[in-house]
Amino acid sequence: MTRGEKLYEGKAKIVYATADPEVYVQDFKDSATAFDGKKRGTIGGKGRMNNAISARLFTLLEERGIATHFLGWESETAMRIHRLDMFPVEFVVRNLAAGSLSKRIGYPEGTALKNPPIVEYYYKDDALGDPLLCMAHLNELQVISPEDLAEATAMAKQANAILVEFFARRGLTLVDCKLEFGKDARGAIRLGDEISPDTCRFWDSETGEKLDKDRFRRDLGGVEDAYAEVLRRIER
Ligand code: TMP
Ligand code: ASP
Repeated sequence: MTRGEKLYEGKAKIVYATADPEVYVQDFKDSATAFDGKKRGTIGGKGRMNNAISARLFTLLEERGIATHFLGWESETAMRIHRLDMFPVEFVVRNLAAGSLSKRIGYPEGTALKNPPIVEYYYKDDALGDPLLCMAHLNELQVISPEDLAEATAMAKQANAILVEFFARRGLTLVDCKLEFGKDARGAIRLGDEISPDTCRFWDSETGEKLDKDRFRRDLGGVEDAYAEVLRRIER
């Protein structure tokens, strides 16, 4: 499929138009940022690995009845996707305490949650630094209707449950993940964006080793090897 105009370039992906107005191509980049772009770097092979990991996971979720934007492989680093009108909300689903939740409520990383999973909403707004939203803020902003929020939240929990089980069989604990949703041309909600070590936390179930972007965020080293290990585990 011929790539048309570049529509959007983000920190980790470029989105192109195609001849079909309802089909886009999303191309994954090797560049990485953290802390609202304050930290920048390159993770060799990340574009190729995140494309392969996301394609595999979107295919799995589609097979299990979750509508996604994935249409098919385009190249080693790119996939064809449905055009979606995205909700400006990040859905973070947490199975164990880690990252900002640990900081916010004082649970050490790895602490079990009393009633997992927790779903949090963050406002996608670079100028504001993607703040955590409570229900009062969501009601005030009106950037997503209560019905769409409920439906996308249910989809986020279903997708998380499928992914938790899939990764557990491959010796990986899905600690948390960030999901984004939008509506297709027919008004149906689909899971969009990507599902990768950039947007999830994966810990080795045996050793607890971190196999995700926290290796980059926290200068732990072995970043490329961690992404390659996640890809290797899901390929089997
Ligand atoms: P957090 O604990 O830093 O809030 O991150 C929760 C999850 O969301 C984690 O799996 C990483 C992912 N995430 C993103 O995909 N993009 C972001 O900008 C941030 C801050 C987190
Ligand atoms: N998207 C975030 C940023 O660029 C990075 C992250 O922590 O995942 O700041």
